[in-house]
Amino acid sequence: MNIIITDTALDMSKKAAEMIVDEVNHYPTLLLALSTGATPIGCYEEIVKMYQDGKVDFSQARCLNMDEYIGLNNNHPQGYYYFMNHHLYQHLNFKQENLFGPCTTSDNHIKSAKEFDQRIEDEGGIDLILLGIGRDGHIAFNMPEDELCLDTHVQQLSKATIQDNARFFDSVDEVPAQAMTIGIQNLFRSKKVIMIANGESKSEIIKKIMEGNTIDTHVPVSLLKLHPHFTLIMDKEAAKLLDKI
Ligand code: GLP
Repeated sequence: MNIIITDTALDMSKKAAEMIVDEVNHYPTLLLALSTGATPIGCYEEIVKMYQDGKVDFSQARCLNMDEYIGLNNNHPQGYYYFMNHHLYQHLNFKQENLFGPCTTSDNHIKSAKEFDQRIEDEGGIDLILLGIGRDGHIAFNMPEDELCLDTHVQQLSKATIQDNARFFDSVDEVPAQAMTIGIQNLFRSKKVIMIANGESKSEIIKKIMEGNTIDTHVPVSLLKLHPHFTLIMDKEAAKLLDKI
């Protein structure tokens, strides 16, 4: 595990953006998997700036969304595809056919989940994932449970996560109770994983990951400690409970 602690959230965003852009420049056809949430927005702004400055070209790159709320289509303003399009895709030169995510609007979620996994396989697997982290340690929407699902699946969201994500909706009642998420297997098969975390609200889960000497399906992010190319970038606030930094 490679740990980078930055002074500010902006530095965290810049560092992650630089790493992603470097990777695209080295492997122009790579398959990226990018996250939603408040944490990566600054990183996406930095990527857009670098693109506008001519430092990177996404015309051959591919990118997927790792999760989506059940029932929200690509045009739904609270949907994750919409989020990615709003903050990133529309500002860059990805080809539309190279952007995809799980479809959650069909009446057969099992089939849609399989199709999503098949597409990832057909594309040759993920090269680089950018993850955020839920306060309870969930990654994408793999929630703390006794068992974690390997493949893409429909996940019941916890009350706490629904509450946390209500800030993106008009009211908590509008937050879908379920989402389709990429499974643990594809997260692990990614050649590289970058995780970003900022702010005091992430400090407890960061302490749990960094200072625990176990992996635990009730803290899904802890499994990433086993990934051979896992980089955690966090700001000082997120690192504030660590004994040694
Ligand atoms: C959601 C997403 C995760 C994200 C998490 C944290 O649950 N499915 O991918 O990491 O929120 O979001 P934030 O960055 O807003 O704290």
